[in-house]
Amino acid sequence: MADPLVDVRNLGVRLVTGQRETSLVDDVSFTVARGEVLCIVGESGCGKTITARSIMGLNRNDRRFSLSGQILFQGRDLMALSDAEMRGIRGTGIGMIFQDPMTSLNPLHRIGRQIGEGMRLHMKLSEAEIRERTLLLLAQVGIPNPRTRIDDYPHQFSGGMRQRAMIALALACSPALLIADEPTTALDVTTQKQILTLIARLKDTYGMGLILITHDLGIVAEIADRIMVMYAGQCVEVGPVRSVFRSPRHPYTAGLLASMPAANRGRTERLPSIRGTPPLLAEGRPQGCAFQPRCDFAFDRCAAMPLLSADDAGEGHLDRCWLPSGRLAQRDAAGEMRR
Ligand SMILES: Nc1ncnc2c1ncn2[C@@H]1O[C@H](COP(=O)(O)OP(=O)(O)OP(=O)(O)O)[C@@H](O)[C@H]1O
Ligand SMILES: [Mg+2]
Repeated sequence: MADPLVDVRNLGVRLVTGQRETSLVDDVSFTVARGEVLCIVGESGCGKTITARSIMGLNRNDRRFSLSGQILFQGRDLMALSDAEMRGIRGTGIGMIFQDPMTSLNPLHRIGRQIGEGMRLHMKLSEAEIRERTLLLLAQVGIPNPRTRIDDYPHQFSGGMRQRAMIALALACSPALLIADEPTTALDVTTQKQILTLIARLKDTYGMGLILITHDLGIVAEIADRIMVMYAGQCVEVGPVRSVFRSPRHPYTAGLLASMPAANRGRTERLPSIRGTPPLLAEGRPQGCAFQPRCDFAFDRCAAMPLLSADDAGEGHLDRCWLPSGRLAQRDAAGEMRR
């Protein structure tokens, strides 16, 4: 197999406050190839954004965070790069779309100028060429009348249009990897769907790898090649989306899937949800399996932390659970997962 575009190995992020250090992200490993979509899911606070920001090198100079492991991008270890080299990677190698477009768009500058900024810094283009490419990008992300909108300010755009402008900005220098962190949370359902479809289409146009962080398992089912489920800062299950959806191995994954509307068509009662809440990582990850306090399948072995299991079928479906593979499916078939 060709080298992956990005290869994250044993990523750890620790939060340092005074004398105290707590682990926010622990031993997270995954790869994304060109053209591939990896979706990262998990409840709020499980470390999705910190993982994405670490790949972008956005917390590398923040003293509160101490990072370990390796982030290989096109074979280079991003953690070993200088700040200037990392800025170059952020400009041209990896693009990121954030949840709130206003974190990336400056309200004081015209949209077109902001989209052109990366090109001005990183590409050898004339001003006329930058403007032409900006118009093309605006058209590609579905902004009507780019020639009249290019000189608008962000406040003249609707929420959906601002998010489209952010996508144009992230794509300006044709990155090889796009990271989208819940890019549609602030939008209405119809616009959400349009934006996600747009991102998936542009992924193909540009031949990029895509890491999409989302709460929407329906979207995952539609566009992901692989899924990584995070819990309490750890990867608890990762694999091809079909395999994980068909036979989840971690009770947390099974719980998330059971709460998916599409999996419960025709049910009129409230959808099942996972009891309890995730641990607050700043207070320390619980001993042993972090999901144990919420798990209906916990047994004595769960007092020790399980490692990501080896995968029998060789398709890269791994889980961090002591239950023997297949146990969950048997219990689920017997109806024991349904509460
Ligand atoms: N700057 C920070 N200082 C201290 N703790 C932080 C900081 N940023 C994040 N955390 C903690 O790290 C953990 C993971 O946060 P993160 O933002 O990655 O979660 P998330 O999975 O993206 O959640 P959400 O779905 O709500 O976006 C949380 O417990 C959070 O409180
Ligand atoms: Mg987040």
